[in-house]
Amino acid sequence: MKGKTPREFYEEVGLKNVLDRRSNAETKKEISYLKKFLSKEKRIRILDAACGTGRISLPLAEAGYNISGIDISPNLLGYAKKEALQKKLKINFVEGDIRALTFEDESFECILCLWSSFNEIYDLHDQIKTICEMKRVLCDGGKVLIEMAKPERHAKDFIKGNLNLIRKIGNVNYFRAYGIETMPGYSHNEKTLSNVMELSGVKNYRIFFDEFGGRERMLLQFNK
Ligand SMILES: C[S@@+](CC[C@H](N)C(=O)[O-])C[C@H]1O[C@@H](n2cnc3c(N)ncnc32)[C@H](O)[C@@H]1O
Repeated sequence: MKGKTPREFYEEVGLKNVLDRRSNAETKKEISYLKKFLSKEKRIRILDAACGTGRISLPLAEAGYNISGIDISPNLLGYAKKEALQKKLKINFVEGDIRALTFEDESFECILCLWSSFNEIYDLHDQIKTICEMKRVLCDGGKVLIEMAKPERHAKDFIKGNLNLIRKIGNVNYFRAYGIETMPGYSHNEKTLSNVMELSGVKNYRIFFDEFGGRERMLLQFNK
C-alpha cells in the first residue's frame, strides 16, 4: 500500500512541529555522542544524510567539522540553510534523495543518518539502493552511522511521542501524528537489517544498541 511521501508529510506537519520534537538537551547529548564517534580530525568530510532542519549539521559545523547535508523536504532544508547563513556557517546543504545521491564517488570520510530517517525508506529495494549509494560516496577507510528506533519499542516510542499506530502491513507501520497520517515507516530489527546489508554486499557492518540522545536506540555502523 502506497502512503504519503516524507516530503508530503513534512510539508503538511510543518516546520514548527518538527523543530519542537527533539529538545536542545537531547540534541546536545547526540552531539557529544557523535563527537566521540567522529575522528578528532575535523577536516574530514561528513555527510548528514537526511539532515532535515540541520539539527545535527549546524552544531557539528559550529564545532568546526566540514559538513554537507542532503534532504528531500524543502521546508526543513530551507530552515537549515537560513540558520547556516545567519550563523555564518559554511555548510553544503543540498535538496535531494538519499536513495540516489548527487555526490561523486568517494566524496566523504563519514556519513551520518540519524533519528529514524532510514526507517522512512520503507521499500526493501530502496533501502538496498540507499546503502549502496552511501557505500559509493564513502572513501576507503570511511565509516557510516545509521540510528533508528529499537525494534521492540518502535510502536511504543511513537505512541509516547503523540504518534499512533493506525495500520501495520508486514514490517511497515502507518501512524497518525498531530491529527494527520504520516509516511509509512519500516520497523527494522537485527534480522531485517542484516538482510539489507547482505543484499547490499556490505560485510563489514555492526548492529548494536546504545543510549543515544537520552534514549535507547538501534545503531548500524559500517566501514569501507
Ligand atoms: C525525523 S527527520 C530527521 C532529520 C535529521 N536527521 C535530524 O536528526 O534532525 C527524517 C528526515 O528524513 C528525510 N528523508 C526521508 N526520506 C528521505 C530521502 N529519501 N532522501 C532524503 N531525505 C529523506 C525527511 O525529509 C526528514 O527530514
